[in-house]
Amino acid sequence: LEFTHVAHPSPVSADERARVLANPGFGKYFTDHMVTIDYTEGLGWHDATVQPYAPMQIDPAAMVLHYGQAIFEGLKAYRQQDDTVASFRVAANAERLRASAQRIAMPELPDDLFLNSITELLAVDKDWVPVAGGEASLYLRPFMIATEVGLGVRPANRYRYLLIASPAGAYFPQGVKPVSVWLSTEYVRAAPGGTGAAKFAGNYAASLVAQAQAADEGCDQVVWLDATERRYVEEMGGMNLFFVFGSGPDARLVTPELSGSLLPGITRNSLLTLAADAGFAVEERRISTDEWREKAASGEITEVFACGTAAVITPVGRVKSAAGEFTIGGGEPGAVTMALRDTLTGIQRGTFADIHGWMSTL
Ligand code: PLP
Ligand code: COI
Repeated sequence: LEFTHVAHPSPVSADERARVLANPGFGKYFTDHMVTIDYTEGLGWHDATVQPYAPMQIDPAAMVLHYGQAIFEGLKAYRQQDDTVASFRVAANAERLRASAQRIAMPELPDDLFLNSITELLAVDKDWVPVAGGEASLYLRPFMIATEVGLGVRPANRYRYLLIASPAGAYFPQGVKPVSVWLSTEYVRAAPGGTGAAKFAGNYAASLVAQAQAADEGCDQVVWLDATERRYVEEMGGMNLFFVFGSGPDARLVTPELSGSLLPGITRNSLLTLAADAGFAVEERRISTDEWREKAASGEITEVFACGTAAVITPVGRVKSAAGEFTIGGGEPGAVTMALRDTLTGIQRGTFADIHGWMSTL
């Protein structure tokens, strides 16, 4: 598929862009262009376009507005030391978008179109990628919605895939500080057989009331438990969790196994590899809130951290639930957490060897 290019008639000035890049925050500013690719049943994917970022018209009866067929991805592009721009594990995001599409009965976007949409957008908007060396990056947000007009409840026969991009600053301008979490036993995020393993918009809508409850409890984030027994840890807000047992070279890492109702994070998957590279034993298994509390108290669990594209790695310092609260690691980020964080961010910024071939130049 050839991309049609419509250049922006009045892109943001270099001065204005520099002002935005000096303090981008997260998801507040968008680059000059966006990509759209349409899908029509029978025709397949068509009309791939790079065009000015702008509001779009949507029919009030477009199916996404009623029955919620909407999925997305999130990945980052990083400026490298030699001024090229590279992204992290794009092929994994392409594959996960296809998996999400399958679950929500949407058409799969072929991986080459996913990759090309990113290359095409970066070709026109690469000046929006923050400077090399720091923690800032360009966050890429691919997504897909059902555009067919009609109120019948069934999979739509028309869709639009879009790619937008937003400069993202250091997630922790004040340095990496442990967060506090609320264990949610009243609300669940996803149930067996449900949509939890898909990056499906509705999962995020369903999470908001529990995140608000966590805030009311004085916590930064919500931690989701399994829907059936409300005993096993699933994930934290929009991030996966890791538990560090022991310390030094004998440290072991445990992360909740992919239960079918938690999101298979690409950062999670990468850290399983990097931790094994570093000589740590790694285990994917169920871990209960009782085990967490007891082994944090006995000192066997020494560090806990969450991981995801947006915030990379965030230590968890305090855990609260209806049953009480406890702390982990004395409120400071742990050594294993910070070592893994340095390795991962080093690969992404091009200062550490990319031995797994995870970076691709755009
Ligand atoms: N869990 C949820 C619910 C998420 O939304 C995300 C973010 O994408 C993650 C985990 C982490 O996934 P990744 O590492 O691929 O960003
Ligand atoms: C993540 O990257 O970890 C996220 O959860 C992204 C979020 C903005 C949906």
